[in-house]
Amino acid sequence: MNETNETLDRRHALTTAVTIAREAGGLLMNGFGREKQIERKSSALDWVTQFDKASEELIVGRLRDAFPDHALVGEEGTNIGDGDGYRWYVDPLDGTTNYAHDFPVFCVSMSLYDGDQPVLGVIYDPVLDECFTAIAGEGAWLETVKGRRRMHVSRETDLVGALLATGFPYDVHTSPENNLDYFSAFVLRAQGIRRAGSAALDMAYVAAGRLDGYWEFKVFCWDVSAAILMVMEAGGHVTLLDGQPMVLQRQFNVLASNGHLHPSMMAVIGATKAGRPAAPAD
Ligand code: IPD
Ligand code: CA
Ligand code: CA
Repeated sequence: MNETNETLDRRHALTTAVTIAREAGGLLMNGFGREKQIERKSSALDWVTQFDKASEELIVGRLRDAFPDHALVGEEGTNIGDGDGYRWYVDPLDGTTNYAHDFPVFCVSMSLYDGDQPVLGVIYDPVLDECFTAIAGEGAWLETVKGRRRMHVSRETDLVGALLATGFPYDVHTSPENNLDYFSAFVLRAQGIRRAGSAALDMAYVAAGRLDGYWEFKVFCWDVSAAILMVMEAGGHVTLLDGQPMVLQRQFNVLASNGHLHPSMMAVIGATKAGRPAAPAD
């Protein structure tokens, strides 16, 4: 079924997107553990495999068939349509470094925005067969082999009890904005920090209450556009790293939390930016 801007049925669009994300996840699982053709992109650390490209080709082809009027942006070069109507953001494989090393943490991430407003998001982890979804105004959901449940952020109010996640940009070897001082500051304040290697899953885990907060520099719209909606729909808070309201841009610095921890995470970020390292929590 084709969907025009006038007749978009959001639940049907989400079902279509989930079917496509699951198909792309199957493609990635077929390639997992196999030999990869690796190419470098923005830096020696920034890799792409033939499976990133094949996944994007599959997703874009399916989305074009289902939503021929919608614009599309994909990490591996897709840029179709313009204007401020419906636009899909596609990360065909989030966690490429993991995938290329056969480290089983990666996902497919897809979102639909209407101008700058999120409409729906899907993140599919084919390793655990976990599908995270959200529709604006209707909540966020996690479907696993055990069933389907509504997602809620955690209730943690104290950084010392918080499990946080972050990542490092692909220019970490050369850029002064490498996140290392922020990482050190949070190590001294939080219960634990994870660097699992997939920004989309990091933020989906905040929505699911598995993580309490997440920050990262220089993420791209395709990394986190679906997960932003999930955190918000699960009752959490997402801003730019400086606390400004979240507005989706091509690349930005992001902070997501269960909401309770936003002020204390902002305090650590502010102190670190000002060159005043946070004191250890205890
Ligand atoms: C990357 C992952 C990683 C994050 C990087 C992203 P990719 O995406 O999400 O966790 O730290 O900022 O670029 O390249 O694997 O799709
Ligand atoms: Ca990504
Ligand atoms: Ca990617």
